[in-house]
Amino acid sequence: MYPLWEVPVLSAGFILGIIATFHILPSHLSTSAMWFNVFIETKAYRENRPELLEFIKKYALLLLVFAYVTGTLSGIGIWFSATVASPRAISGLIHNYVWGWATEWIFFIIEVLGIMIYYYTLGKVEPRIHLKLGWIFAIGSWTTMVIIVGILAFMLTPGKWLETGGFFDGFFNQTYFPQLLMRSSFMFAIAGIYAIAVATTIKNLEVKKYIMKQASIWGIVGIIAGILFFFLYLKSLPPHNRELLTILNIGSLKNTIIASLGFIFLYLILVYIRPQIIKLPIAVISIVIIFAGIFATERIREMLRKPYIFGNFMYSNQFIAKDLPAKGVKNEVEYINTVGILQVVPFVPEDLRIIREENQFQAGKLIALIQCSSCHALGDSGVRPLKPLVKRIGINEPEVADAWLEAIGSYPYMPPFLGTAEERRALALYLSSLAK
Ligand code: HEC
Repeated sequence: MYPLWEVPVLSAGFILGIIATFHILPSHLSTSAMWFNVFIETKAYRENRPELLEFIKKYALLLLVFAYVTGTLSGIGIWFSATVASPRAISGLIHNYVWGWATEWIFFIIEVLGIMIYYYTLGKVEPRIHLKLGWIFAIGSWTTMVIIVGILAFMLTPGKWLETGGFFDGFFNQTYFPQLLMRSSFMFAIAGIYAIAVATTIKNLEVKKYIMKQASIWGIVGIIAGILFFFLYLKSLPPHNRELLTILNIGSLKNTIIASLGFIFLYLILVYIRPQIIKLPIAVISIVIIFAGIFATERIREMLRKPYIFGNFMYSNQFIAKDLPAKGVKNEVEYINTVGILQVVPFVPEDLRIIREENQFQAGKLIALIQCSSCHALGDSGVRPLKPLVKRIGINEPEVADAWLEAIGSYPYMPPFLGTAEERRALALYLSSLAK
């Protein structure tokens, strides 16, 4: 039933989430690591300390093998799963930002070639030239962030784009710079946190201590700056998204962020004071902990988009919510309410297009799949499952469910019901059966 990808229990979004969450690990390493590396490499040449090159080689190898093998695979995985989970949303984004992504991919090529050249020429070309290669790589990889943050920020806050449809009107919106500053600060912290893990494997005690001290300073400064920009970011959010912050159930995500930052901060101070006691397992655990915090932040950012999937323009269930006159696009709400959702969606089984008494329940279930499953699992378990929610608010009679559905658009985080009154009654029948 294109464009629906029904994943039992988990939901399509969850599959995308698993891949995207893993991708955070290599992608943040790839943008950050080379900044720390060129910093240390510069010191190695300026202060004539060739022993530091051992660290540089190891860090570059981690980057090459971990970031560029798993990062490219999971990056493609995000595209693949997002396209299956939300084909209309991906199509909409591509139609606006294809040149943004094309530009980003040029920088990906620079990165992928850059890390190979950097790693394999270390010690084989003149230091001055090698350092330049490092700088090209560092700036190139940060540029991929400069671009992708514009698209991510656009998805939450489209700025003037809804009026003009302009590429840069959407790109440089009110949350762009705060988000770029925040991510760039955490980028330096992440470079330090990974560097500590690499440093634990170095034999030369002198080098090990030196790298750990430098890396912990990067971590501490990056985290303090990141937190300051985080508050700037919150301030830049429009009222609707800020309201969601207070309504939606994000308590455990918030606690995860606070616990993660608190732990990392203490850890970095410990690394600074007592570098010799840090071993690889502790360093790896600290990486997992900082990424738990990052994951929670990304989850909150995605929740704040509700009820839209991007740009205050397309609902999470992929129906177009608003007119975009600059591009000749009309919202689909009135049309679907007149014609019917089961008429509009292309791959509805023919015997469910027209609702009759004998197929009413099936039609209702299909409508729930089409309109609700992007945010709710239909059964009792999984992501935000419908059954306990329906029970909780007690809509156990079709009439009660029908009246509730009529007003569902007044929730700030759910789209309105789309379809005819008859279709709404079918969905109401299905929902009330869940409560029973
Ligand atoms: C854009 C995402 C999204 C879509 C689409 C969506 N919901 Fe929700 N819904 C939510 C969120 C978020 C909550 C809050 C969950 C919580 O309280 O834990 C919620 C809560 C609910 C609740 C509990 C309401 C309350 O007052 O506590 C019900 C019932 C519900 N949804 C049913 C539906 C039905 C039926 C559909 C399809 C017609 C639907 N939702 C579509 C996001 C969505």
